[in-house]
Order: sequence, then C-alpha cells, then structure tokens
Amino acid sequence: MQHPFYVTTAIAYANGGPHIGHAYELIASDAVARFNRLAGKDVLFLSGTDEHGKKMERTAAAAGLTPLELANLNAKKFEDLLRALCISNDDFIRTTQERHKDTASRFWNLMCESDDIYKGSYSGWYSVRDEAFYSENETFINDDNSRCGPNGTEVEWISEETYFFRLSKYQDRVLGFLEQNPDFVGPKERYNEVLSFVKSGLRDFSVSRANSNWGIPVPNDPSHVMYVWVDALVNYVTATHYLLDIKNEKAIYWPASLHVIGKDIIRFHAVYWIALLMSAKLPLPSKVFAHGFVLNKGEKMSKSLGNVIDPNMLIDRFGSDSVRYFLLREIPFGQDGNCDEQLIAARVNGDLANGIGNLTSRSLSMIVKNCDSQIPQPGEFSNSDRKIIEQSYALYPSVSKEMDSLQIHKALSLIIQLATEVDRYLTTEAPWLLSNNDRPRMNTVLYTATEVLRVIGIMLQPFTPRAAGKILDMLSIHQDRRHFGTINEATRIRPGTSVCTPEALFPRV
Ligand code: MSP
Repeated sequence: MQHPFYVTTAIAYANGGPHIGHAYELIASDAVARFNRLAGKDVLFLSGTDEHGKKMERTAAAAGLTPLELANLNAKKFEDLLRALCISNDDFIRTTQERHKDTASRFWNLMCESDDIYKGSYSGWYSVRDEAFYSENETFINDDNSRCGPNGTEVEWISEETYFFRLSKYQDRVLGFLEQNPDFVGPKERYNEVLSFVKSGLRDFSVSRANSNWGIPVPNDPSHVMYVWVDALVNYVTATHYLLDIKNEKAIYWPASLHVIGKDIIRFHAVYWIALLMSAKLPLPSKVFAHGFVLNKGEKMSKSLGNVIDPNMLIDRFGSDSVRYFLLREIPFGQDGNCDEQLIAARVNGDLANGIGNLTSRSLSMIVKNCDSQIPQPGEFSNSDRKIIEQSYALYPSVSKEMDSLQIHKALSLIIQLATEVDRYLTTEAPWLLSNNDRPRMNTVLYTATEVLRVIGIMLQPFTPRAAGKILDMLSIHQDRRHFGTINEATRIRPGTSVCTPEALFPRV
C-alpha cells in the first residue's frame, strides 16, 4: 500500500496576477511533490486561488469588473504560470467553486455543533490588503498620517455585527499540540514565534463580515459572509472531498502532510487553522512549513516601489528550469533571499551550463563519435570508477534526508557536487586521449560517466524536470525506470543502449 502524501501551497489572492513570490512557493512545493512521487508515494498536490473577500470586491469595483470577472481573469494567469513553470499539481482549486462553497458551509456547521460560533459585535481595525483584524497596539501611524497594521498596510476602523469563533477555548489544546509536536512548524524560528504567540493568550476572533455579499454566506444567516480566511483555509479540506463524501477516493489524503506557505501567514495556518480543525473535529495536518520572502536587491517588492518581479519575464529570458533551479538553490528554504538577473545568470552559467550541461554534452558526444551512439561495454572497473559509481548510488539517501527536512537548497547542492566530481573524474581519466591508444579503457570510463549521469538525471527530475527529462531521453531510459527505486546496480544502464546526439540543456546566458 502506497503511503499518501498530500502537499498544498497557499491559495493566492486573485485580485492581481502572480509575482515571483508566488512562483517561488509553487516551485518549492512542486519539487517536494515530485520528489515524493518519485520516492514511490501516492501524492496529491494542490494549488489554487483565493477569490472572496473585501480586497477582491474593491479591486474589481475599481477596475469596473464584477469580482467573479476579476477572479476569472487572474485565476487564468495563475494557471498559465503553473503550466509555464512545469508545476505538477493534481488539482487547482478556486474558492468560488461549488465544491468549496459546500465544504465551507459544512465546516461552519461542524463548528456550530461544537458551540464555537456566537454572535457579537466587532469594533476595531481591519486591513483589507492583509484581510486581517488588528488590535490597536499592533497598528502604528505612518509618515503620511495613515494608520497601518504590522505589515505596513493601511487599516480602517470597522464597527459591525459579527460572528466570533471561540479561539480562547482552544488555548490549552493548541498549546499542548504544539508542545507535543515541535516539528509541526518549520523552520524553528517560526515554531518559536508561533509558540510565543499562543502563550501570549488567544482571543476569540471574528469569522464573518456583514455588509458584503462577495463571499460564502454564513449558513442560516445570509446577511453575513464568512471571513475570507476561514473560507480560504478550508480549501485544503475541500480538495479531498472529505466533508462531501468520506468514502470518495480522495478522502484518504486528509489530513494534509504538508502545508507550504510564506512566513507572513504562519499564524493563520499554525494557530487559527489548527483550532478551527479541532472545533470541526477533523484530523490535523502533519506539518506547516513557512518559506521566506523573495526580495529584489534586498528590498521587499511592492507595487508602490515598482520593483515587483514578473516570473513570466524571467521564464522568457532564462527558461523555466533555470528559474526553478535558481530559486531553489540560491535561497535557503525557510529564509529570505534575493532574486535578480545577474544572480540568475551566475548560477545558470556556473552550475547548469558549465556544470551539468557540459558534463552531458562531453560524455554523450564522445559516445556518439566513438561508440556508434551506443553505451559501450565496460571492462573491469578501476577503483576510481567504482568510487564514483558508489558515490552516485549514495546520493539518493543523502538527498532524501535533506528533502525530508525540507532543506531543498542543500539537496540540490549535493546533486551539483556529484556533477562536479564526475567532471573531475573525466578530466583525470581523459577518455579523449584513450580513444587513440586504449579503447577498452575509454569504454569503461564512458560507461562509468553515463551511469552516473543517469543517476544525476533521475535525481534532478523534481528540480529541473524538463532538462532532467531530456538527459534521461538522451540516455534512452524508459519512463518506468526513472523513479528513485532504480538508483542501484541492478538497474544500471545497459551496454548497447542507444544515445542521442546531445542537445543544449541550459543555454549559457
Ligand atoms: N490568500 C492568502 C493565502 C490563503 S491560504 C489558505 C494569501 N495570498 S497571497 O497572494 O498574498 O500570498 C500567497 C502566498 O505567496 C503566501 O504564502 C505568501 O506568503 C506568498 N508570498 C507573497 N509574497 C511573497 C514574496 N515576496 N516572496 C515569497 N513568498 C511570498 O496570503
């Protein structure tokens, strides 16, 4: 029985198109999803768009569109980006879909059954940009005299009737859960942040908005719509159809194995979401991991600064594999990191074009030229041949260890290190010299290099799927023999296998 692995991204607000931060989250989650699939797990990978709320309502009005028209427009941009980046999501959820509205209503009713929803009135600060309520002491007055929330977004005073969720009731259970599961939140800094937030005391929070008709109506009181964050969080359950039909084939994926999100929305996932699930009596997810922010030359990106990076522009310039590789290798997963064209060019030229690309073309063009385009029959392996092959078989367990702890950048660096080693091996063994005076030895060296290249191709699939696929195609590796279970001697590349003339994997920038 395969072990189900359910990984999600945050669902992006559909009030605008995607930026590089969204692309980063998609790429990282995709690497994790692909890695787990190749490791033999039964994976469900979900992404989508968050389409309700005041922000949508206002942006649409300003653009002269209905909120749904705006959502349709932007959801398409996200779906297009997913394709352009080779994201392998199994489903794309939009919170305006019927399946989601049904699930959210059922979820609400479950919270009512636990007596956790009550009517009251809320007077306080609200940031439409963050779709978040803030207490007075979390706000500050900006230079232009406007009041802002902790993220620097403007807040407005609202005073309205609302439904509250009894978060305070879950204080002890949430704290107990976090203390018993110190790995539930990663990285460690975020866990500590969440823990101290919970220890500082949880207060009931508003879970509905009056005066809005753009949202999911509160069951039995259509004068309110659900607070957009409650609506949005439930998307993770919706996609498994767990509340609609527990016997359906997707229900086995709940609870989620991993929610990948940005550090700015950790509280919603690691505290509110957990309490909401406890209230609805649903099983809790296994892990929430908060990645850092992609910065432009050290600065936060914003429309007002005009420094927002468009991922499509980078894909056009560098190709999706290079953008994927750069973001995953350059930014330690969990920390902030910079993205700019010079940095991308340096990584692409160094690690990919001169590294993996050069290695592939060096070894394959020699086989095409000297071995009639077929993997040669090796002779007896020398110590150095054996060493590099064994090193390549040892790569999977070590990369897997890094991926299990979501150290994606370290996982990639191990793969690149192996490519560097093979390059060194080739330089030392110099098969181009052997072609004149020792053909049997040349064959063994080229065999060894391509066997390691096969492993590198397999291991690169989660990170640079297109280029990895090309490497494996050039080596004529059958589709069924590209999973991690084939990284061993028993499935080593067969002599006589045809290879193709190498094509450029990563054009130098
Ligand atoms: N709609 C909510 C999420 C609801 S999940 C139930 C939301 N949307 S968002 O569009 O603002 O952000 C979507 C994701 O992108 C979040 O995980 C957020 O942290 C991430 N990022 C937004 N800007 C980012 C960067 N500059 N860098 C990296 N990730 C960033 O929040």
